[in-house]
Parts: sequence; C-alpha cells; structure tokens
Amino acid sequence: MLKTCVIGLGAIGNRHAKMYTQDPFADLVGVCDWDKERADAAAARWGVPAYYDVETMLAAVKPDVVSVATGGHEYGSEHYLPTMQALDFGCHVLGEKPISNEIPEAEKMVAKAKEKGVCYGINLNHRFTPAALLAKKWVDEGRIGHQLFVNMSMWIMNPRETSPYFQLKALHPHTVDVMRYFCGDIEAVHCFATKAPGRQIWSTAVFNMRFKSGAVGTLTGSYDIERGHPMERCEVAGVKGRFVIDDMYREATLYPAGNPEKTVYTNPLFGGMESFEDTFRNRIHTFLEQVGEGVDPDEIDGSGAEGLAAQKVLAAAIRSLDNGTVERV
Ligand SMILES: NC(=O)c1ccc[n+]([C@@H]2O[C@H](COP(=O)([O-])OP(=O)(O)OC[C@H]3O[C@@H](n4cnc5c(N)ncnc54)[C@H](O)[C@@H]3O)[C@@H](O)[C@H]2O)c1
Repeated sequence: MLKTCVIGLGAIGNRHAKMYTQDPFADLVGVCDWDKERADAAAARWGVPAYYDVETMLAAVKPDVVSVATGGHEYGSEHYLPTMQALDFGCHVLGEKPISNEIPEAEKMVAKAKEKGVCYGINLNHRFTPAALLAKKWVDEGRIGHQLFVNMSMWIMNPRETSPYFQLKALHPHTVDVMRYFCGDIEAVHCFATKAPGRQIWSTAVFNMRFKSGAVGTLTGSYDIERGHPMERCEVAGVKGRFVIDDMYREATLYPAGNPEKTVYTNPLFGGMESFEDTFRNRIHTFLEQVGEGVDPDEIDGSGAEGLAAQKVLAAAIRSLDNGTVERV
C-alpha cells in the first residue's frame, strides 16, 4: 500500500483524490491547496487532513506518491514548485499535463527526478485504455508493418482566453503523446492555426509532422467545438495494415491491407470503461503498480521524459506558427 497525497484541489486534483481512495494500491493520507477553502472542502470530502503548504504536508505525512494537479498560466505554470518540493523530498510524483508551460522548467523537473532516482510520471491519460493497449500490441506484432502515416485529431470546447498558445500547449500534450506512443519520436513540425469567431487565441490548429522513422503525420485540434459527439480519433497506417481508435476507448478497428475482413474491439458494456474518468483510474493505477513493483524510473509508462518530449514538439509548432517555418524539434 502506497501513501499518497494530492497537491492542487481543483476539479482535477479532486479526481486524483477520488482515484486514490478507490485504488487497492493506494492510501490517501493528505490533500494540500494554498486556497484554504479548497483544501478544507477536499479534506472533508475524502476524509483526510487538509494542508495549506506543501512542505508542511510532506514532513507531516511522508507520502510515497504525490499527485501534482496544480494549474496556472497555460494550465502549467504552477507545477514546477510543488513538483520540485516533492521530488526533493524523495517522493514519486505524478504530475498533470502539460508537464510545464515552459521547457526549461520541465527539463529541470525531469533532471531532478533522475537525480533522486524516483519515478516521475505525467497524466497522459488518453492512452491508458484497453483499446490503445490493443493497438500498441498490433504495432508491436508487426500487423501495421512499416509505418506510413498517422492522422490524429481531438476537439473540445474550452473558452479560456488566457494566452495565444493555450490550446497548443494545454490540449496537445495528449494528442502528441498518443502519436509518439504509436509512432515514436517526431523530428520536424509545421503548424497553421486559426481563431474562431470572437476568439483572441489560436483556438484551432493543424500540424504537419515528420517522424524519425520516416513516417509522416497530421494533427488537428480545437478548443471551439461543444461536447456531445465523438471528440478524439487516431489513425495509424503502414504497409501491412491500418488501425483507427475512436474516442480513446470506445472502439479500435484493425484493417489488414488487402484483406476485406477487419478486426473490431468494442468497449464492453459489462466490465468495460464507463466514462472518461476511467482514463484517470487506469493511468493512476498503472503509476501505482509500476512504483510498487519497483520499475526502473526510466521505464515507467507516460514518464516525465515523455511529457517533456511532447512539449518540445509543441514548442517547435509555436515557433513554426510565429515564423511561418518548418521547425526541427
Ligand atoms: N489529464 C486530463 O485529462 C486533464 C483534463 C483537464 C485538466 N487537466 C490539467 O489538470 C490541472 C489542474 O486543472 P484544474 O482545472 O483542476 O486547475 P485549478 O486551477 O482549478 O486548480 C489548481 C489548484 O492548485 C492550487 N495550487 C497551485 N499551486 C499550488 C501550490 N504550490 N501549493 C498548493 N496549492 C497550489 C491552486 O490554489 C488551485 O486550487 C491543469 O494542469 C490541467 O491542464 C488535465
């Protein structure tokens, strides 16, 4: 059983706390928010002590695992301080995405985790689903073959107008991570973006990618479309076959090249994933399991290094958008 804490008790931190109270590997022992009302409300809800200062909580409850679910500018500026504090204390840390809105800070967090020899994961929850695991197996078994192209897209509504790059930096850690999960490192990127009527920020964007493997890809994303219909699609094609994942966990279809018979995985009604919240459940459970099993910090799924790699692709996309260039990552 791992002692766990959550720092940052907005909607997302409360979701982490809920998962820790339900996971068989976790014992939630404290919550911390410098907003006293939020900390107290979460403490009452989850039945654990409230703290208003990170170092006080770490010293008092000595957690094994800490979730950092802070937010801030571009949804990422607040992660650095509590992450460094928890890593310095020797805790394993599961941070929210984006790893940071600034690359130099992200690099320092990844380096700190390495120096301390602890696991540092990012909540790249969109790929912690049975459908994505199955598609990964198809790739590893050679059923896609030499990869040719990937088409990834994700669209939701987020009306925040805090930074011109908010959509690029805060939505696409997920999509770029999914692309990297199946297709490996991205070496070059080009980005066009547009602003929906009434918006001041680059709220919809298209990216062109070239992977180290030689495969090519596109990514389309938007903060301008109301929920209610499918919101995410991933298609990967190679010389032997092509797969499509619809909405992370709803369905995965393998189309073998030259064979009209396809293989379809459908999220089962009984025992399947019930909602988007289960992507958090799976991701958090995997982190706890890997920490508990003593997996090498370099080998954990959805690591800080992977979160940083995704953010570097997005930083290159922003340079491309600003300068009209193709950028190396
Ligand atoms: N993985 C996903 O699917 C997903 C979905 C939505 C949002 N997110 C991410 O979750 C994060 C949190 O989102 P939110 O909407 O809950 O944010 P929020 O701003 O509502 O909550 C963050 C909380 O952190 C607290 N905080 C900040 N720094 C602190 C510190 N050093 N010590 C103590 N408390 C501190 C703030 O007071 C605030 O209450 C963001 O990074 C966002 O990008 C992830």
